[in-house]
Amino acid sequence: MKKNIILCGFMGCGKSTVGALLAKKSGMAFVDMDTYIEKKEHRSISRIFAESGEDYFREKEREASRELSQKKGLVIAAGGGTLTFEENVQVLRKTGRIVLLDLPLETVSRRLSGDTSRPLLNRPDKEAAMKELYERRLPLYRAAADLIVDGSQSPLQVCMAILSS
Ligand code: S3P
Repeated sequence: MKKNIILCGFMGCGKSTVGALLAKKSGMAFVDMDTYIEKKEHRSISRIFAESGEDYFREKEREASRELSQKKGLVIAAGGGTLTFEENVQVLRKTGRIVLLDLPLETVSRRLSGDTSRPLLNRPDKEAAMKELYERRLPLYRAAADLIVDGSQSPLQVCMAILSS
């Protein structure tokens, strides 16, 4: 059975879109980690944050990382925060290859301009918060990644870059 492929990167970098296409192209199964957590919790990510707080969500994310790392042959779209925690990097890397979809802040910002589904960015100072988070996380993503691909290409091009490397 093939090693898992774990897609990593900032919110809005295309992890879910690329992940679904990559799974189709490679014949692997696709798991979106946020959806996985939502199904187990029977509520949306926004509600988990609002009702139980970020620390609770991060615990669920750690659990999901541990559970999914025990499977093989998966394309996993991680959450934007997942691979900023060393514990999750260690556990997911054991059975998978971590691929960073790299995208400049300007593109991320444009893509997320009308978005209200990300609790971390649902605030009046959205732009400043996004910049601070992006700059803090980028070195962590880069350190976690086994492969870095240009996320500003089309989803198909990103898939091809991953499959050919
Ligand atoms: C988060 C990113 C989200 C989701 C949650 C927290 C983050 O996933 O896991 O809102 O910390 O960056 P996406 O990257 O799929 O939006």
